[in-house]
Amino acid sequence: MMRASRKPLAPVEQADPAPSGGSLVPAHVAIIMDGNGRWASARGLPRIAGHREGARAVRRTVEAAIEQGVGWLTIYAFSSENWRRPAGEVLDLTGLLRQYLKSELAELRANGVRLRVIGEPDRFGADLTADLREAVRSTASNTRLNLTVALSYGARAEIAAAARSLALSVREGHLAPSDIDEEAVARCLFTDGMPDPDLLIRTSGEQRLSNFLLWQTAYAEFVFQDVLWPDYGATHLATALAEYARRERRFGARPA
Ligand code: IPE
Ligand code: IPE
Ligand code: MG
Repeated sequence: MMRASRKPLAPVEQADPAPSGGSLVPAHVAIIMDGNGRWASARGLPRIAGHREGARAVRRTVEAAIEQGVGWLTIYAFSSENWRRPAGEVLDLTGLLRQYLKSELAELRANGVRLRVIGEPDRFGADLTADLREAVRSTASNTRLNLTVALSYGARAEIAAAARSLALSVREGHLAPSDIDEEAVARCLFTDGMPDPDLLIRTSGEQRLSNFLLWQTAYAEFVFQDVLWPDYGATHLATALAEYARRERRFGARPA
């Protein structure tokens, strides 16, 4: 059986082999962090309490990803559809993001984490945008873990924007329609320069993409875990990685 392995053409660093068993760790793990609200309401707490605890789970998971040899971690923090939530919850989340950056930036730097943001973070306002820019700039030379946060991210909007940008290039004569291939599209996405996710995890038992990385997850392995995001940690990540290692990835080729 072919072991789970990286996408053959992915351009970036190799994942380290797992410490046990010789199976490969996914180079890029993407997580749909879901279940904060349910975690809070199960305890009779306001939703923000779930989001706050969710931020602690992010810290644990970043540390666990480093320990478990994952090179790229992309987390879905806020979708373009999440603007449909009540203004109070959006405001709480914006405040929490700023707080997270303030309290975690030093640690991210110390741990060699490079931060990137995909989506339309400017929609959260000038203050958070400025904090994010500074965090991205000041971690740009780190190489241990590439942490990407999806903020006001929607995959359909991302693909539509790529189509617009390619159409403009054609109209201006920089590009022929026949030059528009998969690589050309990928270069117009927020994830330009990043490898595609090998493993996509969603917590809370929901089994849908909710407009996350539609293009990039074309050949990702999906693992759905029943745990609510605020309870997530190293053991859950290890379980997902073990499940990934058991998968047979074919990329359309004949089975070995
Ligand atoms: C995920 O938790 C965090 C965000 C989408 C911002 P939810 O807030 O979606 O929690 P549930 O799904 O209502 O439990
Ligand atoms: C997806 O979760 C977005 C994030 C985790 C940030 P949602 O809770 O918004 O997704 P739906 O509404 O259940 O599909
Ligand atoms: Mg949800």
